[in-house]
Amino acid sequence: MQVVVCKDPEEGARIVTEKILSALEDRPELVLGLATGSTPIGVYQHLIEAHKNDGVDFSAVRTFNLDEYCGLSGDHPQSYRAFMREHLFTGLNIPAENIHFPPSEGPELGEKCRQHEEEILQAGGIDIQLLGIGSNGHIGFNEPTSSLASRTRIKTLTEKTLRDNSRFYEDPSEQPQVASTLGIGTILDAKCILLQAYGEKKAEAVKASVEGPISSFWPGSALQMHADVTFILDEASAARLEMIDYFRKSRAEGLRLQEDNTI
Ligand code: F6R
Repeated sequence: MQVVVCKDPEEGARIVTEKILSALEDRPELVLGLATGSTPIGVYQHLIEAHKNDGVDFSAVRTFNLDEYCGLSGDHPQSYRAFMREHLFTGLNIPAENIHFPPSEGPELGEKCRQHEEEILQAGGIDIQLLGIGSNGHIGFNEPTSSLASRTRIKTLTEKTLRDNSRFYEDPSEQPQVASTLGIGTILDAKCILLQAYGEKKAEAVKASVEGPISSFWPGSALQMHADVTFILDEASAARLEMIDYFRKSRAEGLRLQEDNTI
């Protein structure tokens, strides 16, 4: 696990963007696992700039979003499909057929979720999974007590998550109570995971995920079992880490070794 404490979210967004662009250079048909929410927006803006200003081509990229609310159509302004169109897809040249969301509408969602797992496998698996984290430690919509081996499925949202996201709904009765989400097991199958977390509100979840015992009560802690995961933090979200000085030293040493061409 790597923990990078940045001076601000902008530095974090640049680090994540550079990793994606460098992977895309090596592999034009990159498979990206994408998140919604406020956290990844900086990265999405930089990817759009790279496409518009530097001609970076996304035409062979495949994407799999983490989650979607059940019961909202793709046109609903609060659906994650609408969010992704607004913040990323309209600014890039990813063909519509390469864009995937976990199934959230119609009958037989259980079976469709299983098929969704197949689609990820057929794409060759997720190369880079972007994550944010909920203040309760959820990743995707894997709420506390989600099985650490879970696959794509329907989950009921916790009161905490509903409260955190209630600002988007004028009429509380419109807020969906359930969502489809890639499972924790699905997320752990990604080849590389980049989790961004910014702000004091995330400090407890970051502490539990990075330094706590692995527990389904803090789903982010499952990432400790992944061989290539990086937590990209700002000072506020990293503030409760006991090992913060070690993480700073390790980052400085890593940069020095890269400059010397040792690693
Ligand atoms: C969204 C998702 C969620 C968010 C988390 C943090 O697709 O998977 O786990 O990453 O709720 O949301 P923000 O970034 O709005 O703080």
